[in-house]
Amino acid sequence: MRPKPGATTQKKHERRRVLIAVGTRPEAIKLAPVVAALRAEPWADVRVLATGQHRELLDEVLAFFGIRADIDLDVMSPDQTLADLSRRLLPAIDAVLTDQEPGMVVAQGDTTSALMTALASFHRGIPFAHVEAGLRTGDRREPFPEECNRVLIAQVADLHFAPTEAARTNLLAEQVDADAIEVVGNTGIDALLWTAQRDLPDDFANLRRPLVLVTAHRRESFGAPLAEICEAVGEIASARDVDFLWPVHPNPRVREPVEAALGSLDNVRLVAPLDYPHFVAAMRAAALILTDSGGVQEEAPSLGKPVLVLRDKTERGEGIASGNALLVGLDRARIVKQTLRLLDDRAAYEAMAHQANPYGDGQSAPRIAACVAAVLQVRC
Ligand code: UD1
Ligand code: UDP
Repeated sequence: MRPKPGATTQKKHERRRVLIAVGTRPEAIKLAPVVAALRAEPWADVRVLATGQHRELLDEVLAFFGIRADIDLDVMSPDQTLADLSRRLLPAIDAVLTDQEPGMVVAQGDTTSALMTALASFHRGIPFAHVEAGLRTGDRREPFPEECNRVLIAQVADLHFAPTEAARTNLLAEQVDADAIEVVGNTGIDALLWTAQRDLPDDFANLRRPLVLVTAHRRESFGAPLAEICEAVGEIASARDVDFLWPVHPNPRVREPVEAALGSLDNVRLVAPLDYPHFVAAMRAAALILTDSGGVQEEAPSLGKPVLVLRDKTERGEGIASGNALLVGLDRARIVKQTLRLLDDRAAYEAMAHQANPYGDGQSAPRIAACVAAVLQVRC
């Protein structure tokens, strides 16, 4: 990765300030290792901007990783719309940029916070580095609005930290400059491996029956598709001697229908979102995972857990190629069939339950820190 010409024109002390923006739970999980890696660099003056797109989900993660936000925009409102969230974020982030004058801004993924941070940086002419660049389904509406967000971010980013070779290929196909792309792995695997080495909560130590872990929160699944997922879970719970654990996303568009559909079943435990170490412990204890989450699709292979992806398209094809994940879509019958197959057919289960790290080796954040130093030309 070549140093950007603009970076060399700034004074060294101005270049040293790196502003890392986080808005939601997964951004905080995936950028925590980057914050740590940059904070370990003697040259770096790291500032953390929390947009507060998420509130309690974000706070929990920052607390677990021992990160205190230097600036908190606290923008979350109940059942927020994309337009209102964007309208509040853009000027607020712009004000932070003029106040902090960072030499570089870093954001991750494809949320509204990441898009608004990228755009605000572009407006101010501040180099913007995109972590987890290049994920694509090829369908602007799936996932919604994330696919469109990440395509737009790629247009304004100066550095693209791609997690995999496939992500690099996607960026090159969009005419992103090859010199501005670095394949570093996914920082979420850094966070996972670091957390998994710790003393995890033992809440799931004495399970009597196989545990099936479920999460779902995608906007394009609100309404009928989410109802299909709930019906499938209800049907399997009635048919088999298993326990479901579903940490329910606090979005009212998710929480209300899930609680209404499944709240009365004995072997379906609907719980509030788990803090990250509890969720890692739950993934480890689970026999299998049903999810539409991006991050969970990446984590499950590293823990050797089969994952059934509750979506029609995924930007994470590596887990499917490695045999750890299967795209089951949002049709009740198909979800039931594939879940029962894994519960009943030992060979089918074993074929998916092998450990693999298609998304990263746990060293992505130090690679990113080294690239940032090289680009800003600050290494002593
Ligand atoms: C957001 C991201 C999505 C990411 C997900 C991770 C966008 C457009 N969506 O979706 O890409 O996969 O985060 O979870 O950026 N809420 C709370 N407390 C919280 C968090 C959320 O009550 O700590 C509720 C609020 O009512 C909020 C609603 O959930 O308005 C939706 O939050 P929002 O961030 O807009 O969307 P997510 O579905 O969480
Ligand atoms: N996660 C968590 N608690 C939960 C559910 C998920 O800590 O109750 C973690 C999970 O391990 C992963 C991240 O949150 O690292 C994924 O977040 P989410 O599914 O909300 O967003 P996505 O990855 O789809 O953007």
